[in-house]
Amino acid sequence: MTDIGFDGRVAIVTGAGHGLGRQHALQLAARGARIVVNDLGGTVDGTGADAGPAQQVADEIKSAGGEAVANTDSVASQEGGEAIVQTALDAFGRVDIVVNNAGILRDKAFHNLTPDLLDPVLQVHLYGAFWVTLPAWKLMREQGYGRVVNTSSAAGLFGNFGQTNYGAAKMGLVGFTKALAQEGHKRNVLANVIAPGARTRMTEDLLGPMADSLDPEKVSPVVVYLASDQCDVTGQILSVAGGRVSRVVVAEPLGYYSKDLTPEQVRDNWDAIASLEDLIVPDNANEEIGQLLNVVNR
Ligand code: NAI
Repeated sequence: MTDIGFDGRVAIVTGAGHGLGRQHALQLAARGARIVVNDLGGTVDGTGADAGPAQQVADEIKSAGGEAVANTDSVASQEGGEAIVQTALDAFGRVDIVVNNAGILRDKAFHNLTPDLLDPVLQVHLYGAFWVTLPAWKLMREQGYGRVVNTSSAAGLFGNFGQTNYGAAKMGLVGFTKALAQEGHKRNVLANVIAPGARTRMTEDLLGPMADSLDPEKVSPVVVYLASDQCDVTGQILSVAGGRVSRVVVAEPLGYYSKDLTPEQVRDNWDAIASLEDLIVPDNANEEIGQLLNVVNR
């Protein structure tokens, strides 16, 4: 097989002024993609704005011989999403790839949560992915080609103290991706989601002794593959950190069945309910019904 390349393709990478997004943009550009480097340029908690980071990364790509344009709109509104996609159209005339990566943190134990800690986190991560993807999606469907890569987190998939807001947004992106995958498949518009781990300004105080091995550039090869025309997977969740990549699944075992289920039966049959026997990994919601038929027909 030939190496993965992006001749003529146009990619939008959100939050590409720092950390993971910057690496995604640099690595896509190095393989020939023309890049919209989007970044609002605020702090980790999402306050402030600065045109510098997006411009710096766009300049870095151009000085390495690539093509890039900076954009500083926030992903967190419909107008912002439309402006980001319009930037791609104005500069390059098309959109083939959207990497939804922009993110902020406002961690707080749930009992102390206030609206200013919830709304911006949902708006940047979850709504942001909707607002940037939507106008691009319409173009991708029409042209019969597109790749969407979303960014979840172990905090969403598995839970993390102090991150109800962030975890809900990140698990929301899994649901978003799974539905997109089903809607886009027939038109060769594929959608996958990564749960990365990397040393960035967002995590530099959190990673401890692992930090040195978690360079963000070790995550981007997965994004490059998922964004490419050689990618033939969709609806997948991939955990990626420090050079390791692994599929993560939502799976369902056979479970316990009673025709006349009572609360006491639930209490008394916990072992059968929780047993991981006969796991299936449904590709869609309808396939999940299959486990009911399997157990009823047993
Ligand atoms: P980072 O803080 O270095 O990068 C995030 C970028 O998003 C920043 O450049 C920021 O300016 C930009 N941004 C924030 N709000 C924006 C908005 N409204 N519009 C446009 N841009 C905006 O952090 P990092 O670590 O590179 O994070 C990238 C993504 O990966 C985030 O979605 C994060 O939640 C996710 N992630 C990172 C992990 C890690 O270990 N670094 C772990 C799990 C998930």
